[in-house]
Amino acid sequence: MSFNKRIKIKDLLENPTPDEKATLMGWVRTKRSNKHVTFIAINDGSCIQNYQCVADPQLISEDILKKANTGACLKITGTIVHSQGSGQSTEIQASAIEVLGEADPEKFPIQPKKHSLEFLRENAHLRVRTNTFGAIFRIRHQLSFAIHQYFHNKGFVYIHSPIITASDAEGAGETFQVTTLDLKNPAIDEAGQIDFQEDFFGRATNLTVSGQLEGELAAMALSEIYTFGPTFRAENSNTTRHLAEFWMIEPEMAFYDAEDNQNLAEDFLQFVIGYALEHCKEDLAFLDKRAADEDKVKKADQRSELGLLERLSFVTQNEFVRITYTEAIDILKASKPNKKKKFAYPIEDWGTDLQSEHERFLVEKHFKKPVIITDYPKEIKSFYMKLNPDNKTVAAMDILFPGIGEIVGGSQREENLDKLTQRMDELEISKEEMWWYLDTRKFGTAPHAGFGLGFERLVQFVTGMGNIRDVIPFPRTPGNAEF
Ligand code: 4AD
Ligand code: MG
Repeated sequence: MSFNKRIKIKDLLENPTPDEKATLMGWVRTKRSNKHVTFIAINDGSCIQNYQCVADPQLISEDILKKANTGACLKITGTIVHSQGSGQSTEIQASAIEVLGEADPEKFPIQPKKHSLEFLRENAHLRVRTNTFGAIFRIRHQLSFAIHQYFHNKGFVYIHSPIITASDAEGAGETFQVTTLDLKNPAIDEAGQIDFQEDFFGRATNLTVSGQLEGELAAMALSEIYTFGPTFRAENSNTTRHLAEFWMIEPEMAFYDAEDNQNLAEDFLQFVIGYALEHCKEDLAFLDKRAADEDKVKKADQRSELGLLERLSFVTQNEFVRITYTEAIDILKASKPNKKKKFAYPIEDWGTDLQSEHERFLVEKHFKKPVIITDYPKEIKSFYMKLNPDNKTVAAMDILFPGIGEIVGGSQREENLDKLTQRMDELEISKEEMWWYLDTRKFGTAPHAGFGLGFERLVQFVTGMGNIRDVIPFPRTPGNAEF
């Protein structure tokens, strides 16, 4: 006999069936009683709303009602009726309640009151049972789906790039090693170094920092591809924007130049944000109100000018600003905070990397719009970016979003073998180890471009959450790999 004959609360709310029998299953959010009945609000995660169950103590034993505490899991069978109360149009009149799982109210940490996000992070295994985290993870799901839909509709092929690699794509040296060597007693070679030939793969390996290089290989055959997978960076950044394990979407397209790349990135971001607005209305309405409440207790100058929903609509309806790095430096140099020495890193010369304070000034104060910054100095960008005719800058782009800073990084790639190997020599990147990457430039090279979108930064933008640790179920950050 099949156990799962329940109706989901989302379906019941969309399609109420008064006078019919139904079975609901879910977790108790609240319970309150008056002289005659007990009201139980139950949530099954299918939507943000709870469903009200009315239990008559003449039908449901006292022992069961006692156990129907916040956090307990119930199976409720009864009749759907029009509700007398004001909070809901229908409710279920229980004829039988089965307690599937108890939750001791003395011990269950998630009580029906406001918990701090810090407290909920420490209880990440249970925080999804709150309205806020239920909403965030349903939106995260919808955004993943939107991303696949966008590229699928455009005929891009989803490529699964490897998670264990022997390369450091970004060349930043911030990789997590992967090894099966006995760390207490590793194999040692003649030079006294750890002998990775004895390791599982016969060489040193690490978790990928980006699927781009493998994505380029695929784009040189399938012409338009994207990856969507976990990436890992061992950077010791304890910020609200950095994770050690995050998900990245990396489209890579043959026959695209830098401008085609910018056009795609802008259209893509507008599509997925628009998709969330259309498909996550109730969850977004909840988070919009949450953000507004949070704003009320902030200082005036730290409040957002636009509400969450307004910010999302704004991005879908307005073109992004496009400026070069050189223009950005000019704006920053002449800016008030620079002149008044308010920046922790004052802008003095062309060539310095932009810090997040500069990015946020440009996006939040100066343009008040998403900004695409292009053509950065080659020294501050990766080896694979296409050199511009000025020989000083590369065809890079970063997309900056309000409240987030950098959300996308990408570029047109250097397709010319000589120029690429020259740059690798300058940066002391091994051509021997990268022989397979260079083969794409030897055999049928083509102009191509791509970018990487940090998925959690997108989810942060869409949900309005201030800390990236709150938009991934189990965040990995320096000193923290619980759960
Ligand atoms: O700018 P990044 O390092 O670019 C690349 O990895 C390229 N291979 C992308 C490409 O051209 N295919 O990273 C891309 C994006 C950033 O813009 C940011 O949104 C996100 O990935 N990101 C992080 N997100 C969370 N935590 C971190 N530690 C991140 N590092 C980068
Ligand atoms: Mg970047």
